Amino acid sequence: MAISTRAIFVATIVICSFLAVCEGDILFSTLKKSIEVKADHKAGVLMAGVDALTLKWSLNTTLPAGSDSGYKSVKLELCYAPISQKDRAWRKTEDHLKKDKTCQFKIATVPYKSSNNNYNWTIKRDIPTATYFVRAYVLNGNGEEIGYGQNTDDKKVDNLFSIQAISGRHATLDICSVVFSAFSVVSLFAFFYMEKRKARAGK
Ligand SMILES: *[C@@H]1O[C@H](CO)[C@@H](O)[C@H](O)[C@H]1NC(C)=O
Ligand SMILES: *[C@@H]1O[C@H](CO)[C@@H](O)[C@H](O)[C@H]1NC(C)=O
Repeated sequence: MAISTRAIFVATIVICSFLAVCEGDILFSTLKKSIEVKADHKAGVLMAGVDALTLKWSLNTTLPAGSDSGYKSVKLELCYAPISQKDRAWRKTEDHLKKDKTCQFKIATVPYKSSNNNYNWTIKRDIPTATYFVRAYVLNGNGEEIGYGQNTDDKKVDNLFSIQAISGRHATLDICSVVFSAFSVVSLFAFFYMEKRKARAGK
């Protein structure tokens, strides 16, 4: 009895891990570039927590109309550009989607429409300083990636944008407060000196 329970338990674990491997087995290199993605934003460096991205996507025009009939939703993600992945293993690109660390920031998952797909996203306050692009994965009814699009080329060179983190700006604020404290200490000494001089003059 005890053995058969254990056997069932082990079998369950084996089957579960097998399924997990199967599920995690979607390779980026097998996905078609089935949608075109655009990311509009103001010029220059974007501020986390302040600036916004306007994302738009549509069926790749090289595909026949109706190819998107199985497209259920689109998962929008903010991804590190190669320049911000260099020497950082924790942002490494992997072909296995489950292991890929290129796109660490989820923007939203929204239903796919045949036209007028767009989403406005205010850059979240916890986004670190780096250079990014936006990728959109097309999901089927089972939530599996069946295609993608990104606002940059295959080499991830064009249309990248930079985001400045809030912490970076805090550093600037810190410098300001140090300068102000130094200034107040100096004025305090100046005040004492003046008072002393006044006191001496009064004698
Ligand atoms: C559309 O698909 C073709 C063929 O897969 C690909 O070469 C092209 O880059 C795609 N266009 C866009 C904008 O992704
Ligand atoms: C996003 O912003 C644009 C322009 O400001 C607007 O036309 C569009 O309707 C907005 N989209 C959503 C989903 O709010």
